Amino acid sequence: MRVVSGIQPTGQPHLGNYLGAIVNYVKLQDEAHAAGGECFIFLADLHAISMPHDPAELSATTREMVATLVACGLDPSKTVLFNQAQVPAHAELQWLLSGTARMGWLNRMTQWKDKAGKNREGQSIALFTYPVLQAADVLLYQATHVPVGEDQKQHLELARDIAQKFNNDFASEDAPIFTLPEPIIPPEAARIMSLRDGNAKMSKSDVSDLARINLIDDADTIMKKVKKAKTDPEPLPSEEAGLEGRAEALNLVSIYGALSGQSVSDVLGEFGGQGFGVFKPALGELMIDTLSPINTRFRDLMQDREALDAILARGAAKAREASGDTLAAAYKALGLVRG
Ligand code: TYM
Repeated sequence: MRVVSGIQPTGQPHLGNYLGAIVNYVKLQDEAHAAGGECFIFLADLHAISMPHDPAELSATTREMVATLVACGLDPSKTVLFNQAQVPAHAELQWLLSGTARMGWLNRMTQWKDKAGKNREGQSIALFTYPVLQAADVLLYQATHVPVGEDQKQHLELARDIAQKFNNDFASEDAPIFTLPEPIIPPEAARIMSLRDGNAKMSKSDVSDLARINLIDDADTIMKKVKKAKTDPEPLPSEEAGLEGRAEALNLVSIYGALSGQSVSDVLGEFGGQGFGVFKPALGELMIDTLSPINTRFRDLMQDREALDAILARGAAKAREASGDTLAAAYKALGLVRG
């Protein structure tokens, strides 16, 4: 069992990242550890340069993201925690896979279409080829399990397509170079939506901070944001079918369920017939109970920046070692002579 996943160290990590991905990083870290497998979680700083960015901010948010992940329960003695920039094999394998990835495949990526909008010509090449780097990230470690939110599913399907074509074109059937990775998506929290618009995903780049719960928001801020969350005037239904066409209500009920380990119908069993005047304070309390210990640990960890840098340096050394054989096999398969 090889667990591999990444998160961009840009903006504020939020409840969508936590419920959609980070909770599963921690769960799979422990499962892999118990099964004698390995877990690699990295900060996708190379991905972050695909959009306009501030270099000073990127190095600060990279440290903050390590602290956040450790505060959420990633244990550097069980998980190889590092940033891509310290492991050149990611960028090298991306180039090797660029001979296999097809323009048509990348053109179909919905994230590329959404982020580029009408101005495709003005985008960086990195934004277009970003999914090839993402494929390299997981294929480099022979990943079997990749915990992600729903929005990354298409990128992982592409990683599988690239792996399959590379294996077909350059390896023999009984000795494939790459393992096909499986995405692990939590059904109850696959896509946490904005608190201001139930049809838009909760995102680090949303201009309104009221749209998301940041993992380091304090208790007052969390309660204020939950109370201001967009809803409708109807009470909550008792059955799931009653949430149809009520995207905001569905989102809040799903968040409650994901935080409390209940299904949507369990939550409705408890709150059906109640208005948001009752439900929102209960949801706010639940978020505060989950996030305040994370918040306290985060602030402690941020006191010792050298320790955070040391975690990344140790992780990077292990990642360089773990990726060496696959990278060498890919060079060799392509007929590239490395001396
Ligand atoms: P990023 O940094 O946007 O998000 C990190 C993880 O959080 C999940 N996520 C969500 N899940 C549920 N609801 C939401 N509203 C929500 N918003 C974000 C994402 O699905 C992701 O799992 N391209 C990736 C980083 C990456 C990567 C990889 C991931 C680079 N290489 C290799 C997996 C494997 C990204 O930008 O995630």
